[in-house]
Amino acid sequence: MDTAFPPSLMCRLDEIPDDGATAIEGVAALGGESVIVERRGDAVRAWLNICPHAGRRLDYAPGRFLLKDELLICAVHGASFNRNDGVCVAGPCRGEHLRALAVELRGGEVWLLAAG
Ligand code: FES
Repeated sequence: MDTAFPPSLMCRLDEIPDDGATAIEGVAALGGESVIVERRGDAVRAWLNICPHAGRRLDYAPGRFLLKDELLICAVHGASFNRNDGVCVAGPCRGEHLRALAVELRGGEVWLLAAG
């Protein structure tokens, strides 16, 4: 079930490297959690920055993620997640998935709409 809350501004689109990802810290609507925001052109996806394997952050340094082709790779033990749907396709939590967040682009800004 989706968790709805008032839309919350995350960042500007141009703060996310194209074909890359960054982390947004302390998202109040999510109780201060860190969020992964991934961008390809004008397409943006977001997930909680919590690996389903051991509950750790996925980045190797704050906001720096291992990306390889279609994969987002957890820096802790190497779980590899499909960047399109957040499903783990290889590694210690294969078949599990990142927790997706609903985001929307509004005038060059990324807004968080809901947690899935
Ligand atoms: S915490 Fe991510 S692979 Fe173990």
